[in-house]
Amino acid sequence: MDTANPTDIDFRPPVLLTRRIPSSALTKLEAGSNVELYDGPLPLTRDELTRRLQGKHGLVCVLTDPVSKDVLEAAEDLQVVANIAVGYDNIDVAAARARGIVVTNTPDVLTDAVAEFTWALIFAVTRRIGEGERLVRRREWKGWALDFMLGMELRGKQLGIIGRGRIGRAVAARAPAFGMSVVFGKAATKPPASNLGAPEVSIDELLIGSDVVSIHTPLTTATRHLIDRRALARMKRSAYLINTARGPVVDEEALAWALKERLISGAALDVYEREPEVLPALLDLENVVLAPHLGSATRETRTAMAELAVNNALAVIHGHAPLTPVAS
Ligand code: DGY
Repeated sequence: MDTANPTDIDFRPPVLLTRRIPSSALTKLEAGSNVELYDGPLPLTRDELTRRLQGKHGLVCVLTDPVSKDVLEAAEDLQVVANIAVGYDNIDVAAARARGIVVTNTPDVLTDAVAEFTWALIFAVTRRIGEGERLVRRREWKGWALDFMLGMELRGKQLGIIGRGRIGRAVAARAPAFGMSVVFGKAATKPPASNLGAPEVSIDELLIGSDVVSIHTPLTTATRHLIDRRALARMKRSAYLINTARGPVVDEEALAWALKERLISGAALDVYEREPEVLPALLDLENVVLAPHLGSATRETRTAMAELAVNNALAVIHGHAPLTPVAS
């Protein structure tokens, strides 16, 4: 148990911060809490996390930190887990809730950054930018030719979006600028969404009819391997798959097979099943763009994410409601 007396006027609740964050956020966290900054080897293991959480009232962490049931059960004084991410599949939310620990994430502040990055991947894969750049760097480019490295034009094509949340909608909002129509995938377990501005169709219809399929759904038991061999086989041979959500939504072995067999034209991934590992079969393919989980990686957004997480942690440890708790 924590030996500090929370009624002391100068008491600043102890908080574990698992990564260095921008100074604007760190300064604020330090003003309102007693911060222990983990600066050791990565990834942070469960044992190390458990040890360092002893006596802590708050945890400010990132999406690679394993905040599992056993970690939470050993953290007797913990009141809040503030994830610096919109996704929170690294946290056992049910176990946290059972112990009265608040879990928060960072929605909204990263929506535009991830939507922009999704479009960057759409362009990269449909216009073969990575493939072309690799060729130039290998000094193998022989010069302009009429039929050289042809890609797919976006105008007049259909964008299928799986995930009706903020990011999916922000990606959809940019589609008219490139002449694309949009459909959203209907979640089997949810009622139809309002104000989508585009039709909702079954996932199968979306896969069959779309020229670009972009994934923006959280990782849950229902979405794990949502895109498997069966789903990939339904897509057009000329279509492209984009994933900026969570790696395990796509069965990577199945994707490598579909790309190799040319069942689809290409894929662009920002997330992987076992980050930072990438399936070797994908590394060998030219028709896949592989980014290192950069969706929210702008200076502006990462600062805003850290600040929001800090504000969430401070609110809870000082007895206030969190700004952005995760939904139950
Ligand atoms: C998130 O916040 O969940 C994103 O994956 C970070 O880039």
